[in-house]
Amino acid sequence: MQLTKEEEAILAGDEGEGRAFAMKVLMNLGDLEDASCLIPIVSAHISGVSYHTAGEALIRVLEDLNGMGARVSVPTSLNPAGMDLRLWETLGYPDDFANKQLRIIELYSRLGIDITCSCIPYETPQSVQPIRMGDHLSWSESNAVIYANSMVGARTNRESGISALAAAILGKTPLWGMHMDGPRMPTLEVKMEGKMEPHHFDLLGACIGSDHNSNVVVFKGIPQDADRGALKHLGAAMAAKGGHAIFHLHGITPEQNLVQKAYDTGMIEERLTLTIGELEKRKDELYPSSGNDIDTFVLGCPHFGVPEFQRLNKLLSGRRLKTGKRLIVFTSRSIIKMLEEHIVLSLRDSGVEIYGDTCMVVTPLRSIGIDRVGTDSGKASHYIPRMSGVETTLLPLEKIVDLCAD
Ligand code: F3S
Repeated sequence: MQLTKEEEAILAGDEGEGRAFAMKVLMNLGDLEDASCLIPIVSAHISGVSYHTAGEALIRVLEDLNGMGARVSVPTSLNPAGMDLRLWETLGYPDDFANKQLRIIELYSRLGIDITCSCIPYETPQSVQPIRMGDHLSWSESNAVIYANSMVGARTNRESGISALAAAILGKTPLWGMHMDGPRMPTLEVKMEGKMEPHHFDLLGACIGSDHNSNVVVFKGIPQDADRGALKHLGAAMAAKGGHAIFHLHGITPEQNLVQKAYDTGMIEERLTLTIGELEKRKDELYPSSGNDIDTFVLGCPHFGVPEFQRLNKLLSGRRLKTGKRLIVFTSRSIIKMLEEHIVLSLRDSGVEIYGDTCMVVTPLRSIGIDRVGTDSGKASHYIPRMSGVETTLLPLEKIVDLCAD
């Protein structure tokens, strides 16, 4: 990768140890990926925040970076942490875990990072500035990456926590992959037949993630008014089951020029049609059920945004949770604040628990007494058993509400 004179000086340490370290990380990545140069980014988003998933190693890296005097140079946001940073005591997190988690947040904060811990920086108030089509980013949360590339037309690779942090410090990222037109162009057309309910989007994402990992997909047959929350789930499931960083919706998503070019130049190598019945037939294989005897239901993977809160509020519409049932929603603290006087209040009156800063995957569920859950999220159903060893059943949101509310 070619460096400018200024970048070479940074590598040599002229601007401090922290920036030199970041330059080395990006140099290695750029050389590995055959990048030609570094390009400026508008924002960075860092995953690897929970002590449950990242452990002591993360604390050591962050202490080293602070010791080197590193600071971010573009707006940078954080993924969910391992607990609600304000309510952890009432939820019963062990002190040792909580102290380590708070230390991680303090170290990130000292680097100049916004500690609104959420995985939906594309719709979280007070997080990174709103992204626009064509913006270059360095984001390292797969649901956020695929949403930014697909629904907004911004440009980011699926970064690791450390490469996104290095990019945040330098304000630059290597030019490769999703930053260029070619790898964003579709190679597979998937035509959907039948009326899609929101939960079908998780199944569709899981099927494509599992079966077509190396393709960029253009979906046909998705309605113009498809639910935004369902589209978040589509991308999250694709990126969880596969390595996808982008999809296109024919006639809907912003990069129709690339879709058309792919058709015109014969890049679409394969076309397939899927029916709703075929998706439903795959459910048990993609998400084996742990049965119906479930008392705790978790929502908000990806984090709940305003439309998801509105949908849940409408489904509950004043009903109360049954005795012994828990319905827990995860979101960002800034969305809680925005909605606290109406929807959040009404949901809490119904018995719903709403937490910020964390999520059902990166929190240690067993240590707060949860050992079996139901969820509406394909991504959560994929990761919870792996990360926490907790049995997980995927259910449509309507069914979850009926199971836990009178
Ligand atoms: Fe977000 Fe946690 Fe799911 S980070 S996408 S809610 S796994």
